[in-house]
Amino acid sequence: MQARVRISLGAITCALVAGTLVNPTTAFGQTDDVTFTKDIAPIFQASCQTCHRDGAIAPMSLMTYDESRPWARAIKDKVSTRSMPPWYIDRNIGVQDFKYDRSLSDDQIATIVAWVDAGAPRGNPSDMPAARQFANRDMWHIGEPDWIVPIPEPFVVPADGANWWGDLFSDSGLTEDRWIKSVETKPSAEGFPVVHHAVTRLQESVDSDQGEFLNEYAQGKNGDAFPAGTGRLVKAGSIIRFNMHYASIGKETTDRTSVGLTFYPKGEEPKHELFSRALAQNYDLDIPAGDDDVRHDSYHPFTENVRLTGYQPHLHNRGKRQCIEAILPDGTTEMLSCSNWDFGWHIVYNYEDDAQPLLPKGTFLHTMTWHDNSAGNRWNPDARNWAGFGQRSSDDMSFTWTSYYELDDDEFAAAQEERRVMTNDDDN
Ligand code: HEC
Repeated sequence: MQARVRISLGAITCALVAGTLVNPTTAFGQTDDVTFTKDIAPIFQASCQTCHRDGAIAPMSLMTYDESRPWARAIKDKVSTRSMPPWYIDRNIGVQDFKYDRSLSDDQIATIVAWVDAGAPRGNPSDMPAARQFANRDMWHIGEPDWIVPIPEPFVVPADGANWWGDLFSDSGLTEDRWIKSVETKPSAEGFPVVHHAVTRLQESVDSDQGEFLNEYAQGKNGDAFPAGTGRLVKAGSIIRFNMHYASIGKETTDRTSVGLTFYPKGEEPKHELFSRALAQNYDLDIPAGDDDVRHDSYHPFTENVRLTGYQPHLHNRGKRQCIEAILPDGTTEMLSCSNWDFGWHIVYNYEDDAQPLLPKGTFLHTMTWHDNSAGNRWNPDARNWAGFGQRSSDDMSFTWTSYYELDDDEFAAAQEERRVMTNDDDN
């Protein structure tokens, strides 16, 4: 798959070079060259700087020309293989409209490659856009929460150390059931640079391996406000599980990540419950030692009509790729999404409202997963070992986190009609 992406990029780069050849030089003899100040800085502002600036999680700042120039080769490599920015949706398969999509277009990648190949020129300083301003780290993007639950104790990340992955559990403190309207998971202001990701879930108890997904924090993401008329039920006595990934930054840093919730008024219930569930869990993984392309399939039946709002592959170290497909009641199939997998990043892909798949009851969600148990996978703990399903981090997994809500037949027909009208409008 990577190869296919590279081939198409190659074609685009060639097209761009060919275009430059026929482009007439401008009146003063200057060619229309790609420069940092004119072309690259706006891309970095939009797609890189949330993470690549002082005090954020990335290893270097890409705020200025002088900071970016030494990284030019690495930048070309990471953007042209689409390993940066982290966003692994396959652009040739399935739905393409996502909220918080930070990926680069093929044209933007071609621009960055052309800039690096031209020697990464600075360009005219007056072309440089004003520096991007970032939100205050104490700010909640969902507004002041009604309820805030922090991790149980402040977490100290040493100056130097291996990445830390693990689960922390806090009592929600809720003594009655409440419907939530929005949710945001957020590191403390000091912890911001060391929190690589934080995924929050609701569980009935610490040992439960089921539960409702709450929210995923990653830099550049601003919390989730549920679609109008939908909400998630937080039961009294719920436990909140924080799945954390901490990374050292060269100085001891203390974090206290919290999750903030806003509620529907007491007694008011949203029309639809927005579920977020682990579906199509595969308990029969058989991943031979050394094999770099092991496929497994698993299925989940939807017994009600559903509107799918979000998708997250869930694999462990040997994960390589996951695709989800709908097998519709009439037997036809529709590819919904494919995503490569990098264990270092847990990304939730939320569909744009207009693109959320509408699946009639009787649909099977078909999950296809590929694992790479070879030494070529940098996350592989030991390529000499067979791997199967399990909870330990040395075991592997395959399931699909989905967010969805159910529609009755009338609502479903109305949603389909709305989609049909919209699609026809687009065609005109
Ligand atoms: C969501 C946060 C995030 C975004 C957005 C992001 N990066 Fe990164 N980047 C990282 C982190 C963290 C690393 C360190 C390696 C890792 O964890 O994968 C990294 C590593 C890199 C590296 C490798 C540095 C090295 O040590 O060799 C390059 C180059 C890079 N990023 C370029 C970019 C560019 C260019 C963009 C935008 C087009 C971008 N990144 C967007 C977080 C981000």
